[in-house]
Amino acid sequence: MRSFKIDVYGCQMNAYDGDRLRTALSGAGWTEVQGEDEADAVLFVTCSIRDKAEQKVASELGRYRPGGGRKAPVVALLGCMAQRLGEDIPRRFPWVRLLAGPRHLGRVPEALGRCLEDDQLRVFLDEDPRALEDLRFPPQVTPGSIRAYVTIAHGCDHFCAYCIVPYVRGRFQSRDPEAILREVRCLADRGVREITLLGQNVNRFGVDRSDGFSFPRLLREVAEVPGVLRVRYATSHPVDFSEELVRVMAEHPRVCPALNLPVQSGSDRILAAMGRGYDGASYRRSVGLLRERVPDAGLTTDLIVGFPGETEEDFRESLSLLEELRFDQVHSAAYSVRPGTRAESLPGHLDQATRMRRLGEVNDLQSRIAREINETYVGRVLPVLAEGPAPKGEGFWQGRTPQDKVVLFPGPATAGEEILVRIVSAETWYLRGEVQRPGEERPWIS
Ligand code: SAH
Ligand code: SF4
Ligand code: F3S
Repeated sequence: MRSFKIDVYGCQMNAYDGDRLRTALSGAGWTEVQGEDEADAVLFVTCSIRDKAEQKVASELGRYRPGGGRKAPVVALLGCMAQRLGEDIPRRFPWVRLLAGPRHLGRVPEALGRCLEDDQLRVFLDEDPRALEDLRFPPQVTPGSIRAYVTIAHGCDHFCAYCIVPYVRGRFQSRDPEAILREVRCLADRGVREITLLGQNVNRFGVDRSDGFSFPRLLREVAEVPGVLRVRYATSHPVDFSEELVRVMAEHPRVCPALNLPVQSGSDRILAAMGRGYDGASYRRSVGLLRERVPDAGLTTDLIVGFPGETEEDFRESLSLLEELRFDQVHSAAYSVRPGTRAESLPGHLDQATRMRRLGEVNDLQSRIAREINETYVGRVLPVLAEGPAPKGEGFWQGRTPQDKVVLFPGPATAGEEILVRIVSAETWYLRGEVQRPGEERPWIS
């Protein structure tokens, strides 16, 4: 029996890739292990979005330097960082034996088997950003797990000035809708109740296909797969945000009223320098439309502080945007220069201290806003999809509301069942509630 250990970094797309690699390797006779000492192969599914993400993996790789007489596992570097650094990797870490970019993961299972037989380096990176050798497996679902990701489109064509994704994930390419639906059916048969559809810009799903299969149609069809109780998606680019999308969210009971709409900055000047293709006014119009048609929707965003040239005034505009639009959550990041991107050569790069100070200010403000929003939930009764025991235990279970609020409630419950929970208290990052037992239901408060 051959064994592997897998470490997944980065975004949900990597989580999906990691889960598909697990399926593919199990099918090829491999067993997953947690300890590196017992693993014949160690796989890193990596991220390049910020320098820190890469540094973490580089220091992990350093630990596998051969020596000390112990049996060295086959080290495989997969995903975005492999694609970005390419042949630099074997120069820095000559013990890495397999390199595969995110569009070449289909080659990994067979190549990994061969790596056990010799000492050759195997490289699956392609200069062609349209090349695709994908894994044809549904993600492996751990028993009892009721949520799964499904990538619906690869790559990105936006080339925002700061971003490495188009360079490592290649050009935008929608997957075949029938293949997506087959995968969703298969996941639903294995007990998955919540599907999150993934893409760098899900709204563009189908634009590269001739059959007119659009994202709103895909959302509806996924939501109608028997067994699926909830569908979410990420990410929706503000440029392609559409009224039709809002309509599907408003009308379809299983399409969750939750939206991640990354704004990135509150300053029009910075948005233009980033090449985002919208300004604050049009972003506000999209949020207005969402709140008018889906008043109870959860709304999250992504924000970068310290983009080159960001003045204190630009930064204040980001803070006031957060105050004004009141997001449930903000995925904030300090700008990190990515080699080869347009922003690298822009003037006005800010020092680390300024970027960190701004990040701290955003996080403090947003913690307060998140808590205030969560407090408005106290007293409401909401449907919660039970996921399992809460990570910190103490007899509590965890689940989510349709808006994607995490709720802790006294267990046990049945994973995959939607129960009614009355919210009794609010924290910054989650809510606490009590399960409504039969006979004590309260009128639906929405
Ligand atoms: N496709 C999505 C974002 C994908 S990357 C969109 O268009 O919004 C996820 C997040 O990482 C981005 O939203 C951005 O906030 C952050 N990010 C990307 N590049 C970054 C960089 N160079 N420095 C800091 N944060 C970055
Ligand atoms: Fe990066 Fe922009 Fe593409 Fe998002 S839309 S992945 S931020 S280039
Ligand atoms: Fe990172 Fe690649 Fe995702 S760079 S954020 S793992 S697309």
